Amino acid sequence: MCFCISVALRLYDPIRRRVLCRSLIVVGDWGRMGRSDKALRAIPGWFYPSDIALFRFALTESGVQVGRGDLAEVGTYLGKSAVLIGEYLHPGEVFTVIDLFGDVSGALANDTENAQQYPALTEQRFRENYKKAHDHLPVIVKGPSEILPDHAAADAHRFIHIDGSHLYEHVATDVMTAQKLLAPQGIAVFDDYRSVHTPGVAAAVWQAVEHGMHVIAVSPMKMYATWGDPRPWRKSLTSWLPGSGLDYEEQSVLGEALFRVSPKPSVLLRALVAYQKRRK
Ligand SMILES: C[S@@+](CC[C@H](N)C(=O)[O-])C[C@H]1O[C@@H](n2cnc3c(N)ncnc32)[C@H](O)[C@@H]1O
Repeated sequence: MCFCISVALRLYDPIRRRVLCRSLIVVGDWGRMGRSDKALRAIPGWFYPSDIALFRFALTESGVQVGRGDLAEVGTYLGKSAVLIGEYLHPGEVFTVIDLFGDVSGALANDTENAQQYPALTEQRFRENYKKAHDHLPVIVKGPSEILPDHAAADAHRFIHIDGSHLYEHVATDVMTAQKLLAPQGIAVFDDYRSVHTPGVAAAVWQAVEHGMHVIAVSPMKMYATWGDPRPWRKSLTSWLPGSGLDYEEQSVLGEALFRVSPKPSVLLRALVAYQKRRK
């Protein structure tokens, strides 16, 4: 019994689960079964149900906060998160993705990580996966993320996902790109903002907070932020979260409120935790 509790608690810890699940296909939002949902489930990658729900919220709400606006992603890998983002592309909007797709960036640590973590990545595989979900491909840019501003319109985006290099210098540039491309009420999502192997991401995003970025929510894997007025975003999160099926609490960080959002533990896990508490 104790062994089961220990395994269950380890699996519930998002970092440990991420390591354990690296080579597995991670399931998506089980509630929907559209064409892109099926493709999403079949694509290898790292995209968890709580973030899938938060992406759906942010992509929908950004249409309210900004109106018509473009979408962008830095670091697409095989297209798992891109397929979901593409689902929310409206007529007249542009979705741009950028990835090295196996090329070198010239920064040794970046190239070493990419070669180890994404050996099977090719632009062709991304295209094939995306076409299983959508009729039209996004604008695909092959190259280092720093060139994204040359290919996407400034002040025009309602949603940007930053999920590329983990090096501080690269992420700091990606943060500046996000600020440049976003429309005033647009939202940026930063992956790996607190993972043990990505201190450079943490440094870059919290530095941005010091310089005017407002965090509205954090999940175990991603940070959600805007350079606009955070109050309307928090207000709509306050309405959406109770029915989202997610656990959440409000915290104050650097004098600003944000929501800490996490998956609800399963009934089995809650029972195991209650059992362990009773034994103490
Ligand atoms: C964690 S994966 C992205 C995962 C993807 N968003 C998903 O949901 O499956 C990171 C991606 O960033 C790309 N990448 C790494 N460094 C980069 C850089 N300097 N510029 C552009 N892309 C980069 C890698 O090639 C890889 O495909």
